[in-house]
Amino acid sequence: MATKKKAKTTKSAAKKSAAKKPAVKKVIAKKTVAKKPVAKKAAAKKTAPKAKARSVKAPAKKAAAKKSAAKKANGNGSAYPAPSTAAWGGAGKALDGVKILDFTHVQSGPTCTQLLAYMGADCIKVERPGVGDITRTQLRDIKGQDSLYFTMLNGNKRSITIDSKNKKGMEILERLVKTCDVLVENFAPGALDRMGLTFERVHELNPRMIYASVKGFGPGPYEDCKVYENIAQCAGGSASTTGFREGPPLVTGAQIGDSGTGLHLALGIVTALYQRNRTGRGQRVLCAMQDGVLNLCRVKLRDQQRLKHGPLTEYSQYGEGIPFGESVPRAGNDSGGGQPAWLLKCKGWETDPDAYIYFITQAPVWAQICDLIGKPEWKTDPDFATPPARLPRLKYIFGVIEEWTMTKDKFEVMDICNQQDIPVGPILSMKEIAAEESLRATGTVVEVDHPGRGAYLTVGNPIKLFDSPCEVQRSPLLGEHTEEILTQVLGYTDAEVAEIKTSGAITPPEKPARAA
Ligand code: COA
Repeated sequence: MATKKKAKTTKSAAKKSAAKKPAVKKVIAKKTVAKKPVAKKAAAKKTAPKAKARSVKAPAKKAAAKKSAAKKANGNGSAYPAPSTAAWGGAGKALDGVKILDFTHVQSGPTCTQLLAYMGADCIKVERPGVGDITRTQLRDIKGQDSLYFTMLNGNKRSITIDSKNKKGMEILERLVKTCDVLVENFAPGALDRMGLTFERVHELNPRMIYASVKGFGPGPYEDCKVYENIAQCAGGSASTTGFREGPPLVTGAQIGDSGTGLHLALGIVTALYQRNRTGRGQRVLCAMQDGVLNLCRVKLRDQQRLKHGPLTEYSQYGEGIPFGESVPRAGNDSGGGQPAWLLKCKGWETDPDAYIYFITQAPVWAQICDLIGKPEWKTDPDFATPPARLPRLKYIFGVIEEWTMTKDKFEVMDICNQQDIPVGPILSMKEIAAEESLRATGTVVEVDHPGRGAYLTVGNPIKLFDSPCEVQRSPLLGEHTEEILTQVLGYTDAEVAEIKTSGAITPPEKPARAA
């Protein structure tokens, strides 16, 4: 039903994007022009040290000649290869060839590595023999099967079981360190050091390794603390600014502490890989969950500073005549930006908890809003005609708009308003999202088959790269790829694998025999 009703909206969206295209092109063109001198500079820098070495080493001469031949072949004067002529999506994936030693567990780290695996990285997830990532067994919906908590965060990965506290196990891990490009971990502070995999040791084994961590807090008084999602939401400023003024602080359902920080880390890793192309060496990347949440809450730190200069006039509290305190208050469903907004009831709200629409009174379409809700006189009434005049009356204004929205269901409001360019958004339940055809069509919601639990829904890659296709694959069973990785990635022989099997490095420790 939702899809049908949205058809008109999509049409108008297509119209809009067509109209906007030239602007986008302009930006891209600008960027390309700006980049060239930088690339040239870098290339010049690169040739300088090589020129020095020329008198000593003949091969350097050859390499330089090869490079300049490549440049000529490009015809673009840069050190980049000539543009691929393969069909779009036929030139491999963005992170093809990148190997990740995935030491992550629970949610934050796995979010990061799953995304990199979606982009084409070979993600090798190391798990404790017999136990695995704790989320395999948490919030289980099917007895004896990997939970959705695990399966939805570990797609496109391979699983190897290694006991890092076993001597042979550490030997295997060190081989993995030498082979991989990125190590990602989100253990409690100090856990990896206790295993013997300090940054210094890893850098010694593989100077090209990018060593990426999620921790709860950055350096400071709380750096040694363990942290879960809601702790980060509380410590990062989100909870104090979420909820209603008269209620307690509130955590949000969006996992901004875990998944949000995982996304930050993924950007850090890709950036470090890019820098490594130039420097040849890896580096540490650290994302603290408190920092990640604050980064997502920056508009509230903005408001904190604005408070010094007077009340926050776009908050409905201002219109209600309630004085502001010293900190940014909770603002309910107020908009966080400059266009006043509120959540309004729609037809059926008495029985459907999700029959609501988020309505933004964007100033440029105020006239359309007035006509739609049957208040054309507000277009010229000095109490309503301008944004500053409306600020102290927002509660009343939204009450009147709501009288109109309550006569329509949320999809009707969405359809009618978008035809007038009025930005609104229906509250979609997870049931509606799971059934939404357009999300399936774009690969944002994907159904994956699993040998143990059968088909399940997962969230595919929300970042669409048009030359790097993403096929979402199921999560691995515990240790499913242990032998494959030992032989194909690390080059162990069959005899060596047999020896590893008896060492306890990849199997759970044997239980001590019971006394008779
Ligand atoms: N072989 C042997 N031991 C292993 C292992 C392996 N393959 N993989 C992990 N372990 C061990 C670690 O060495 C560590 O043991 P130690 O404490 O004796 O040194 C232990 O398993 C796991 O450590 P820890 O991270 O403390 O797990 P936890 O369940 O107690 O804590 C968190 C979970 C999430 C609170 C904690 O990891 C943390 O704060 N992480 C950083 C912040 C974060 O990412 N939080 C969000 C999670 S979604």
